[in-house]
Amino acid sequence: MPSMLARPPRTSRSLAQVVGIVVGLIVLYYLNWLPIFPSFYVSSSSTIKPANATLGFGALVVVSGADSPRLDRLIQAANVTGIHLQVPQQPKWTDQDVDNFRNSTQSDMGIGSILAWLAHNRAIQWFMDSGLETALILEDDVDFDINIRTKQAPITQAAIRELVSRPQPNTSRSEASSSSKSPTSSTQQARRPSHSNPKKYPYGSPAAWDLLYLGTCGDYLNSLGDGLGVGHHHPINLTSIPHLAVSDPTIPRRYDLHPFTASLLTSLNVPEQHRLIHESRWPLCTFGYALTRASASLLLSTLAPAREPAWEGTRAYDVAILKACRESLKQPLTGDPAIDANNPDPRTGPGLRCVSVQPELFHHMEGSSMIAGVEEAGGAEVFRPPVDVAAWEQIWWRRESANIGCGFWDGELLFRDEQKGNEGAAQAGGHEGREKAMDEGDWRRLAERRRDVEKGKCAKKRVIEAEEEARKRGKGR
Ligand SMILES: *[C@@H]1O[C@H](CO)[C@@H](O)[C@H](O)[C@H]1NC(C)=O
Ligand SMILES: *[C@@H]1O[C@H](CO)[C@@H](O)[C@H](O)[C@H]1NC(C)=O
Ligand SMILES: *[C@@H]1O[C@H](CO)[C@@H](O)[C@H](O)[C@H]1NC(C)=O
Ligand SMILES: *[C@@H]1O[C@H](CO)[C@@H](O)[C@H](O)[C@H]1NC(C)=O
Ligand SMILES: *[C@@H]1O[C@H](CO)[C@@H](O)[C@H](O)[C@H]1NC(C)=O
Repeated sequence: MPSMLARPPRTSRSLAQVVGIVVGLIVLYYLNWLPIFPSFYVSSSSTIKPANATLGFGALVVVSGADSPRLDRLIQAANVTGIHLQVPQQPKWTDQDVDNFRNSTQSDMGIGSILAWLAHNRAIQWFMDSGLETALILEDDVDFDINIRTKQAPITQAAIRELVSRPQPNTSRSEASSSSKSPTSSTQQARRPSHSNPKKYPYGSPAAWDLLYLGTCGDYLNSLGDGLGVGHHHPINLTSIPHLAVSDPTIPRRYDLHPFTASLLTSLNVPEQHRLIHESRWPLCTFGYALTRASASLLLSTLAPAREPAWEGTRAYDVAILKACRESLKQPLTGDPAIDANNPDPRTGPGLRCVSVQPELFHHMEGSSMIAGVEEAGGAEVFRPPVDVAAWEQIWWRRESANIGCGFWDGELLFRDEQKGNEGAAQAGGHEGREKAMDEGDWRRLAERRRDVEKGKCAKKRVIEAEEEARKRGKGR
């Protein structure tokens, strides 16, 4: 059509200009992120394949005391989301067990902390006995999003796989493992071996990582006491840390994230609804962490064995893990078990190569801390961690656990009638609840919830009302 080609030159020039400006803006936008922000895109969310029932690990292993009242809620949440949990039997720990743990009669370590430590230790022992290659250790009061299996886990898998398979020039272990696996291929030599089989190793080869922090109170890059977020951290703080950001539409909007998380991610210029995945710097809490056989064995033998550490400051299990992760920054594992296992003192020994995920996939349910409960009973002062204190008001406002979009905190998505409400959980009959037979109503509700979860629908009254409200307002205009 010649008439079209013969349009006045003015219009086409201005069109070209507009296109040029738009392209320029897009380029600028990305240039703005890229030097600091190697974002990582997983293929569009509609084509993401759900993770399997153990989220791509060998097993999901729950740390749950012999009479924990919290387990039943977790099992219901798992049933609704289609994930399968292993709950190793824990002994009823005795005073003798606690005394054996203490390093001396002068020990002032809290009994709650000791019980938690023993319980984690037992769960890791279960993993070692199972012969599985990897396991995700979960505390029994964790909450998570209904999309964890269908979207969050597969997106996070792809991102972690990418991060841990990047060449790491200066860790002797990566050289050791890649050269032993691919002695002939010089292109593969620089890469770690994890890209080899994403089906078998959705998070990358277990030779390429030691611990994945999927459930934390956050990793604020330095100790909490040193400050965090806007006014303290800056995008430049990420330059020395291996990291990437991955888009995930199920992450709550920035204003609904835990105040600390929101501030940290803002200060680092991480885009909204992106997860920051990075080499750990100061990971707090052990709500959920994945281990390999190598790292589990190191934890049991040297990094966090079931006896009171003889070094100052380590008064809780999560501090021992934090230290183990920080050690690797000084001296990474060599990959030679004979050398790695022979370091009796964690202060000088090898550490674990840890990866932090922020916002986290698992966060504990506020209002049910058993550790605090035991401590209180013992007359000791209950310590409320600053991360919990800062989250409290927002949790009650959102009626969701910190950093969780659509979770199980308010009990609406549970299916056993008598178990509704977070307050009710504390009184519910512990493991008895689990053993109680499902009645017809339970099965019906479970089937309904599962259908909603499959569709990624947050079937909560509050959410549905808000959606209807928005639709009405849209029509009115
Ligand atoms: C899930 O995937 C992992 C990794 O491939 C595998 O080890 C595990 O056995 C799978 N779990 C189930 C329940 O199929
Ligand atoms: C609920 O989950 C538990 C633990 O994963 C499992 O043993 C049980 O069979 C599940 N029940 C249903 C009805 O899916
Ligand atoms: C690699 O690590 C060694 C210590 O293990 C250090 O002496 C050396 O400077 C590091 N090289 C680079 C490039 O960071
Ligand atoms: C972050 O960057 C600032 C400015 O360079 C620096 O003062 C601070 O020590 C850094 N913090 C960390 C944890 O790296
Ligand atoms: C026990 O641990 C404390 C530090 O928490 C340490 O000061 C003390 O020396 C240890 N005692 C023994 C006998 O190891």
